[in-house]
Amino acid sequence: MEAIILSGGFGTRLRPLTYTRAKSLLPIMNKPMVSYLIEMLPDSVDTVILAANYKKIQLEEYFETSNTNKTIIVNDEPKPLGTGGAVKFAEKYLSDEFFVLNSDIICSLNLSDMMTFHRKHDAVSTISLWPVENVSEFGVVEIQKNGNITKFVEKPKQEDAPSNLINAGAYFLESSILDYIENGRLISMEKEIFPQIITDTESFYGYQFKGYWMDIGRIRSYLDIHQDLLIKQNKNNHFGNNIVNNGIVNKTTVGNDVVIGKNSKIEKSIILDNAIIEDDAIISNSVIGENCTVCSKSQLSWVVVGDNEQISANTIEENKSFWTQEIPKEFPKKQIGNVIGE
Ligand code: GTP
Repeated sequence: MEAIILSGGFGTRLRPLTYTRAKSLLPIMNKPMVSYLIEMLPDSVDTVILAANYKKIQLEEYFETSNTNKTIIVNDEPKPLGTGGAVKFAEKYLSDEFFVLNSDIICSLNLSDMMTFHRKHDAVSTISLWPVENVSEFGVVEIQKNGNITKFVEKPKQEDAPSNLINAGAYFLESSILDYIENGRLISMEKEIFPQIITDTESFYGYQFKGYWMDIGRIRSYLDIHQDLLIKQNKNNHFGNNIVNNGIVNKTTVGNDVVIGKNSKIEKSIILDNAIIEDDAIISNSVIGENCTVCSKSQLSWVVVGDNEQISANTIEENKSFWTQEIPKEFPKKQIGNVIGE
C-alpha cells in the first residue's frame, strides 16, 4: 500500500527558515519533520511517495542516505499543484486505497485504526478530525453520529460552527476520488475536491482521535512542539552531538556541533546545527538557524534568525525575524494555498 506525504509547500509562514530548506526537512528535536510522518505509517504501507516541488533536491539527498524500510519515491511536480493536484500527479504509483498526509502535522493518530474505520463504513474518503476550542480560522465539518460528513464550513463564527472538529490533515482514500481531480492544475483537496465528493456521495467520513495534534505551520507552533515534546519525554533540554556548552541552557533543543559561550543564558529556544552563541548572550523563545553566530552580549526574545546569519554584538531585539540574504526567487510573497494567516 502507498502513502503520499505532501511535501511540496513553500512554508511561507515559517520563513526565513524555509528560505533555505524544504519545510518537511525542518528539524524537530534534531530530526526532520518528515521522519515523524514516516514512523507513523503502518507496516502495510511499503511505498512512500513524497509529493515534492520546492527544494525537492534536498529531499532526494536526505533519503539517499536515510534508512526507512520503505520504498521512497520523490515525485517532483513540474510546478506547485496544490494539495489536490499533487495527489493526482502521483496517480501512476497508486493502487486501490492509499493514505495522504500533510507533512507538517505531528499527532497521535493511529492510521491503522483509521483504515479499519474506513473499511467498516465502506467509505470513499475518510479524513482525520481533531477538536479545537476556537474554530474561526479553520475549515469545520458538519458530521452525523455515524461519522458521515455532510458539509465543510470554512472559518465559521464560533456561534455558527456546526461542530468543533477540524480537518487534521491525514486522509485514507479510494482511488475513485482521483477522477475528481483535473490533471496539471493547482487544486486544493480541501476546498475543491472534498466538498464535491460530499455533494456526490454519502461516503465521506470523519475519524476522530484523541491524544495530541499539532500543525507545525508557524514559528509559534514550531517552538510549542518542542516544549510539548520535552514535557512528554520528561526532559529539560534535548542536545545533539558534539556540543560545547559553557552557558546555562533551559527547556531548549540544541542541534549538533553548537558552541555556547560563557555566561550565556538560553531558554525555551531552538538552536540549529553549527550555531555559535558567544559569551554573555541572553536568548529566549527564539529560533537560531544553522551556521549562525550570535555575537556577545546580544539579547534576543521571540526572534527567528534564518540560516547563515550573524547577529552583531550587543544587539537587543524582540519579536523580530532576521534575514539579510537574497530571498529565493521562486518563493511566493504571500501564502498560495489555504490561507490561514500568520
Ligand atoms: P504556508 O505557505 O505557510 O501556508 O505553508 P505550505 O505551503 O506548506 O501550505 P500548507 O501548510 O497549507 O500545506 C499543507 C501541506 O500540503 C503541507 O504538507 C505542504 O507541504 C503541502 N503542500 C502545499 N502546497 C503544495 C503543493 O503545491 N504541492 C505539494 N506537493 N505539496 C503541497
